[in-house]
Amino acid sequence: MNRLPFSLAVFGAILWFSTHAPAQEGEAKKKELPPIAEIKIEHKGPVDFAKEIWPIFESKCAFCHSGNVKEGQYDMGTPDALIKGGKRGVAVVPGKPEESHVYTLSARKKKPFMPLKSEEPFTPQELALVRLWIDQGAKMPTTTRVKPKVVISAPPKTVQPIHGVTISTDKKAVFAAVANRIVEVDVAAGKITRALRDEQLPPEKDPLRAPAHLSLIESLALSPDGNTLASGAYQEVVLWDTKTGKIKHRLKDFAERVVALAFSPKGQLLATGGGAPTEEGEIRVFEIATGKETMKLKAPHSDTVFGVAFSPDGKILASCGADKFLKTWEVPTGKMLKSFEGHNHHVMDVAWKSDGKTIATAGADQVIKVWNYESGEQARTIPGHVKQVTRLQFIGTKPEVATCSGDQTVRMWNVDNGSSIRNFGGSTDFLYSVAVSPDGTIVAAGGEEGTLRIYNGTNGQLLKSVPLK
Ligand code: HEC
Repeated sequence: MNRLPFSLAVFGAILWFSTHAPAQEGEAKKKELPPIAEIKIEHKGPVDFAKEIWPIFESKCAFCHSGNVKEGQYDMGTPDALIKGGKRGVAVVPGKPEESHVYTLSARKKKPFMPLKSEEPFTPQELALVRLWIDQGAKMPTTTRVKPKVVISAPPKTVQPIHGVTISTDKKAVFAAVANRIVEVDVAAGKITRALRDEQLPPEKDPLRAPAHLSLIESLALSPDGNTLASGAYQEVVLWDTKTGKIKHRLKDFAERVVALAFSPKGQLLATGGGAPTEEGEIRVFEIATGKETMKLKAPHSDTVFGVAFSPDGKILASCGADKFLKTWEVPTGKMLKSFEGHNHHVMDVAWKSDGKTIATAGADQVIKVWNYESGEQARTIPGHVKQVTRLQFIGTKPEVATCSGDQTVRMWNVDNGSSIRNFGGSTDFLYSVAVSPDGTIVAAGGEEGTLRIYNGTNGQLLKSVPLK
């Protein structure tokens, strides 16, 4: 996680650290996990809660213990609650780590071990730091919440993840967001042909490496007519004219990272999703032609929003996020229509089937869920991925979705019967992003590795592997 920059840090950590097998029901062979090694660390002076402790809790604990998610009735979101504990009582006894649940459970000295088995545990270093902090009296600032300081700067050269891919309407090109750049890749040639440049940013010697944003790009979407590309980054969204490569509008004043983007089916509106982890999620809707905001939802989710999608008739916006909920909203009034609960971890993405009756969601709990919109029921759960499902898209009007996952695969599924249709391999790291042409013939995917892969969607053949680093 240390190699991820500022704004990606928390989200990245959650995706990053799920290297363990899921704690699935019926898992017979329950191996006892060994305690975390206790090591001595060199540390001068008092441990700084905001700088050294909170970031650990925030990335490894807070998504189950803050906001509206308080597992074991334990809320780590405010200093008082963090000390007070949940149903087992006091969680932090200043000066006494061995009597503090926060220490003993995460050291795996007492049950239930924390975090849950499916998540990445504390490193010995982190555990030692938490211990030292408790030893020193568990000092915390008295202000209600500690906000990590954010420095906006270009992502380090070593961090070149692909967080967004989208296929041009003629299927001849793929747009990919890699680090803070947006490149156009010719599908037939497998080569970068253009980079979109924000002229307010300093140029690069190589114009094909021009920066599109100052910070890491977190999301990318193409309008249905192919004329407008939207890219989301820390506190901003840019609308690009795909023909000229020029900026049409800059959308500003977002609370945090913008990690989700969706155009309305007729292409007049753009919905954005994001927000700071463990704070209120953010959903805003803009008119493409003018760049004016037409709708802003008030506290739509209690945590970061990871996915947004308009219904095929454009009248409903679906959203999902770190609070594990799928919700729907009336456009343009912003009235909440329905709320669906079922995933037991972050809901990473959402999409509507073309009939407007079915919604599919991708979960950090490694499953895809299919929902019957009218009845509000879960139609089915599709297991198969072995890490977080990070993005999902319906394929044209078919009852099929394409997904990508931290398990390094892109897959296609039939949502009517839950069957697996095809696997697309070759990736060697976590995948963040997938796109499929509406006819299902071209598939593009990218992730942490920084390599764009383009496949034949009908037979799974890898057509091009294009390093964008
Ligand atoms: C994936 C979700 C998840 C994560 C991540 C997680 N926990 Fe928990 N935690 C739970 C659940 C579920 C319980 C309730 C377990 C029970 O009561 O048997 C719980 C209970 C606890 C309790 C006991 C509360 C009480 O009073 O009963 C403590 C303390 C705790 N967690 C600390 C942590 C710490 C520290 C971390 C980070 C290292 C962490 N948890 C990460 C799900 C999680």
